Amino acid sequence: MPKITIQGFLKKKTEGRKITMLTAYDYPFARIVDEAGIDGILVGDSLGMVVQGLENTLPVTMDEMIYHTKLVSRGVQNAMLIGDMPFMSYQASVADAVGNAGRFLKEAGASAIKMEGGAEVADKISALTKSDIPVMAHIGLTPQSIHRMGGYKVQGRSEDAAQRLIKEAHTVEDAGAFSLLLEAIPMNLAKKITEELSIPTIGIGAGPFCDGQVLVLHDVIGMFERFMPKFVKRYANLKEDALKAIEAFKNEVDNGTFPSEDQSFQ
Ligand code: KIV
Repeated sequence: MPKITIQGFLKKKTEGRKITMLTAYDYPFARIVDEAGIDGILVGDSLGMVVQGLENTLPVTMDEMIYHTKLVSRGVQNAMLIGDMPFMSYQASVADAVGNAGRFLKEAGASAIKMEGGAEVADKISALTKSDIPVMAHIGLTPQSIHRMGGYKVQGRSEDAAQRLIKEAHTVEDAGAFSLLLEAIPMNLAKKITEELSIPTIGIGAGPFCDGQVLVLHDVIGMFERFMPKFVKRYANLKEDALKAIEAFKNEVDNGTFPSEDQSFQ
C-alpha cells in the first residue's frame, strides 16, 4: 500500500471515497491503526486527557507532542502522520506557529500539522503553507477554547453561528489548508461546508456527510471511560479485557498456578 499523502486525501474527496482517521499516541497502537489501513493518524492533544489523565488539553506542551509523535512515527508505514499544535504553541505569533509546526516535520516525522481556529489563525495557516508545512484546519468545537466557549458545546446551531462557520471554512481554505476538521456541529451545516469546499472535510461529531471521519482511538477501543460524547461509537472494550487478564494473572500468582513448569527453566 502506498504512503498516503495530502494529494491522496484530495483524490478521495474528488472520487467520493471516504477518508478515515484515528488518533494514536504511542508505537504499539500506531502499528495497529496503520495495519488496519486507516488513512490518517493524528497525534492529538487529546493525549492530555486520554493518556496523561488531565482535565482538559490546555496544559499539553510542545515537547510532549513531539515526544508522542516520535513514538507514533516509528509505528507508521502508510498512514499520513499529523501532529496537533498544542495550546499556546501558535496563538501568540506567526513565528511561534512556523517554528513549532516545523518541529513536527523536522524532529518527529510528521507530514502535516493540525491547528485549531478559523479566521484568527488564517495568517498562520498561510505562513505554514508557504513554508511547505501542510495544515489541517479545525473549526466548530475547538477544545482549546473551552473557557471562551463555556464548555464542550455543539457549535453553529443558530443561523448566525452557522453563517460564521461557513465563512471561517472558506477563510481557512483560502489561506491554504489542505483539509478541514469539523468538530461537533449540526450535520446539515457540515454537509453544506463539505459541498462548498474543494478541500476534504473530516468530521468528529459532524454527521455522515463529511468527506472523512476521525475519532479518538481510546474512545473507539474502550480505553477511556471518564465521559463519552454522543458522537462516539465504542467498537471494543479493551479496558474490560485488560482488567480480566490482569485479574487472572493476580489470581494465578496468588493461588500458585503461575508460573507452571511451562514458564520455568530446568
Ligand atoms: O486532539 C484530538 O484528538 C482532536 C480530535 C478532534 C480528533 O483534535
